[in-house]
Amino acid sequence: MVAVAILAAGRGTRMKSDLPKVLHSLGGRSLVERVLNSCSLLDLERQIVIIGYRGEQIKQALNHRNRVEFVEQTEQLGTGHAVQQVMPLLQGYEGDLLVLNGDAPLLRPETLQQLVETHQIHQNAATILTANLPNPQGYGRVFCNGDNLVSHIIEDRDCTMAQKQNRRVNAGIYCFNWQKLAAALPQLSTNNDQQEYYLTEVVDYLSPVMAFDAEDYSEINGINDRRQLSAAYDVLQARIKDDWMKAGVTMIDSDSITIDESVQLEPDVILEPQTHLRGKTTVATGSRIGPGSLIENSQIGANVTVLYSVVSDSEVAANNRIGPYSHLRDGVKLGESCRVGNFVEIKKTTVGSNANVAHLSYLGDAILGDRVNVGAGTITANYDGKKKHLTKIGKDTKTGSNSVLVAPVTLGENVTVAAGTVVTKDVEDNALVIARSRQKEIPDWHTED
Ligand code: UD1
Ligand code: CA
Repeated sequence: MVAVAILAAGRGTRMKSDLPKVLHSLGGRSLVERVLNSCSLLDLERQIVIIGYRGEQIKQALNHRNRVEFVEQTEQLGTGHAVQQVMPLLQGYEGDLLVLNGDAPLLRPETLQQLVETHQIHQNAATILTANLPNPQGYGRVFCNGDNLVSHIIEDRDCTMAQKQNRRVNAGIYCFNWQKLAAALPQLSTNNDQQEYYLTEVVDYLSPVMAFDAEDYSEINGINDRRQLSAAYDVLQARIKDDWMKAGVTMIDSDSITIDESVQLEPDVILEPQTHLRGKTTVATGSRIGPGSLIENSQIGANVTVLYSVVSDSEVAANNRIGPYSHLRDGVKLGESCRVGNFVEIKKTTVGSNANVAHLSYLGDAILGDRVNVGAGTITANYDGKKKHLTKIGKDTKTGSNSVLVAPVTLGENVTVAAGTVVTKDVEDNALVIARSRQKEIPDWHTED
């Protein structure tokens, strides 16, 4: 039996923020949410979050998760004091208790599972996640005698110069035998530099306590300030990109690319520099995105190119060429093999296959058939100041340069719209529509004096 308690009562003074530290966002998810997610492989009996500073805000942020219980630590007197607050809740509980710092968001579920397994196999009183850090500054140091048995943990600020040389640090991630921990918690003192109740002091009253090393030390990164938050984002990105490269995605200048965890990519996708893929985006095989593109919550089909463009909340079928400098937003559906070119904005519009919108156009609230050719500078005037209206364009229709389609309006199939035309009435199939003043020529306008 395993329960979890997450320490999230501190303000996080070093963040210099009104927002509680654990609610700061890392790649679109709060730190505390990520810590909860790191338990995903465990079958948890209870999930307890210890709140204090702006506790209501944390409760609200975790509202969508059921089974999470909250306990309040009204004064933040230290990590040991925080865990003391769960004692009333866990009276009579006989399993193990995982204790996780709410500011350690990079822990992998597999690592936590291994920690619990090691703890249970050895029947330890406590098992502590540790790592050997190149730069251990700021972390509590873990001192072991042989066999990874922990004798004590000393906070960085309480260490002597000699003790600071120890690079094995406490991750703030522990598995305890709850009954034994409950007996040790009341013995904590405040005999340290900060005069707080340190959870790490329980090691002095428990045995056996075992250290379990994380293979990848980036997993234990604690977030105390904005620099560490930024470094954690880099770690997260490196993981996501490594995984996609292993799965057959090419990245050019990968440091300049960002990809959300929720994105799905197929093999032989090529991501060029300065490309950002966000939300529920998928990109199918053979597509080349970037340089300089942002794709958000969109589905991109196979063999599509998106060059210096922004696509959000849209579906793009196979073999499309988009950009440079196109903007597709808010429910665009592009059929196969279209061309959307320079300085084109498309919104809430469905386009058939093999259509062209190559230059300088705005299409909003429109439905276009197959093989429509939208001439340079064609605009749908979809808004009358109060409401948006629909424009329909039948298949094989061509609009001339600089034409304005005043919605609501329907152009039939195979229509030709003359350049400079302002269309205000529906047009029949196969017609030519022309609405502009006839060219007048006045000879000899410039006469010599
Ligand atoms: C703690 C550990 C340290 C370890 C490091 C790993 C102690 C004494 N030290 O130090 O050994 O190397 O984590 O990152 O435990 N919190 C409360 N109530 C409190 C105090 C803190 O809920 O009264 C919460 C904070 O919100 C935070 C977590 O506990 O999520 C850790 O607190 P923090 O002050 O960041 O501890 P560190 O100094 O980093
Ligand atoms: Ca910390």
